[in-house]
Amino acid sequence: MIIQGDNRLVLAGMEAESVNCTVIGMGINSTGYPGAFTPVVERLINNIIGLHGKHTVLHLFSGRSDIGDERVDLERQEATLRENVLAFISRDKRDWDFVVLDPPYEIQRKSKLAAYGSVSSVAADVIMRRALASYLREHANEVVWLDGCAPLPAGFARKHLWLLLPGSYHTVRVLSWLTRKPSLFGKLAQENVAREQEPMI
Ligand SMILES: C[S@@+](CC[C@H](N)C(=O)[O-])C[C@H]1O[C@@H](n2cnc3c(N)ncnc32)[C@H](O)[C@@H]1O
Repeated sequence: MIIQGDNRLVLAGMEAESVNCTVIGMGINSTGYPGAFTPVVERLINNIIGLHGKHTVLHLFSGRSDIGDERVDLERQEATLRENVLAFISRDKRDWDFVVLDPPYEIQRKSKLAAYGSVSSVAADVIMRRALASYLREHANEVVWLDGCAPLPAGFARKHLWLLLPGSYHTVRVLSWLTRKPSLFGKLAQENVAREQEPMI
């Protein structure tokens, strides 16, 4: 661990709001699968989503992870659905307490992108980004998003960010915990307000 602690930083981009942020060492991925969660990231996500079975959890781009009731990944047998996320979100109508996602970023190999049916990372894939934002707005109460940036789909607010330092010269990652803005979503608003009162991890 390199640095840890709660830091009140101005990180919210255009809205320039103050966001709770923790800076923490990312730890090491020793699974052999590129991009797999490190034990540090896995623990943070498990702390956010809570006890298994208490909340419904969808995991997109789930890789080798076993987090989530439904896990969608193109190529991993650990997924409950081996399907393109774009196809899945265009047909899935369920609502989720949490949607966890760790889309590909910094993909070096063109062959890997071709296998994903993509020409770029999700952050640079406008069609996928828009489809994800729209799906999350419709179906997610809270979102836990690991990426090389800190996406903020319309209708959501940042609850907490973790700035994950991988060490050496690797790019910093961001784990974003996003929550629906209660004013915009009547259906889940009361639950959301109640959760706001819960202590931060
Ligand atoms: C950064 S890795 C996530 C790894 C995961 N966090 C873990 O712990 O193993 C991204 C994953 O997204 C999957 N993937 C990439 N593009 C996809 C797509 N369009 N639809 C479904 N899965 C995709 C890849 O197979 C890969 O497992």
